Amino acid sequence: MKPEQRFAHPVLDASALGAAPVAVRLLGDDVVLWRDESGTPRAAPDRCPHRGTRLSLGRICAGQIECPYHGWRFDGAGRCVHIPALPDFTPRATHAVAIFGVIEAHGLLWLHLDPEAVLPRFDAETDPKLRKLNVGPYDVATSAPRIVENFLDLAHFGFVHEGWLGDRAHVALDSYRVEPTANGFVATGCRAWQPQSNRLSSEGSWVDYRYELTAPYAAVLTKLPEKQDGYRDEIALFVCPVDEDASRVWFRMALTDHDSSDEQVRTFQHTIFTQDQPVLESQRPRRLPLSGGEVHCAADRSSAAYRRFLGEHGITFGTC
Ligand code: FES
Ligand SMILES: [Fe+2]
Repeated sequence: MKPEQRFAHPVLDASALGAAPVAVRLLGDDVVLWRDESGTPRAAPDRCPHRGTRLSLGRICAGQIECPYHGWRFDGAGRCVHIPALPDFTPRATHAVAIFGVIEAHGLLWLHLDPEAVLPRFDAETDPKLRKLNVGPYDVATSAPRIVENFLDLAHFGFVHEGWLGDRAHVALDSYRVEPTANGFVATGCRAWQPQSNRLSSEGSWVDYRYELTAPYAAVLTKLPEKQDGYRDEIALFVCPVDEDASRVWFRMALTDHDSSDEQVRTFQHTIFTQDQPVLESQRPRRLPLSGGEVHCAADRSSAAYRRFLGEHGITFGTC
């Protein structure tokens, strides 16, 4: 098993899986999701073991997925339970499809191959004082590591997010600290001057930033604006590594903002991310270079820590 397969990855909004099968892609493979008779989400390779047809083109009958070609049916454990051309035949165990583990969390469905796989931590999820909602998904034409590295990057605010998360008069960075954790690292002591830090901010403010890498393709940002007493934003970035150079992105927001509508929160975050997206999609190579080819400066401490983390953990999907 490749190191990246030891982690659970988000693939779909839980609310997007209804009565019909849904096709997704994860780590370069096609996967079909469906709900069994009890409503439990199930996932399998999107390829019928009979003749390789996409199961996601089929339909669900009593919680079993029916292949669109010859109608073979597979139950939630992946067993073939019915071959219509041979109604009295009991299919062999070898006629089964493999089944992936599915976890529902943070409003998303997460897939894993490893029963030991853990979700990236997001402690704010259980904080009753914070209001939660998801923004996304965004389909982005670049690798998951490029997106994570951008999320950890402070030095682009005054350029990419000018007038929002930064301005050109305040682009110099304080020195910040990076310390390893069990599943990644944490960057503290970061500060940014932000004209419009969140939807409710009415004036520019210094904002304390804390980043935590929580999995190879997930990170959490904590923002504390100095001028909004008691206000806190916790934003988790969850990236699905679709292909080596294509990703699907969600933001799980946990905010002190209980006043804005969902639409207003989404519009703010959408504005920010669609400022990042063209820059991300312009980067070449799309995969994150771990073995040279780009130059660095001292302000890139968190991105250096991220590249080191990927290298040390043998994560290769989305890197070069
Ligand atoms: S290809 Fe799926 S049933 Fe034949
Ligand atoms: Fe950005």
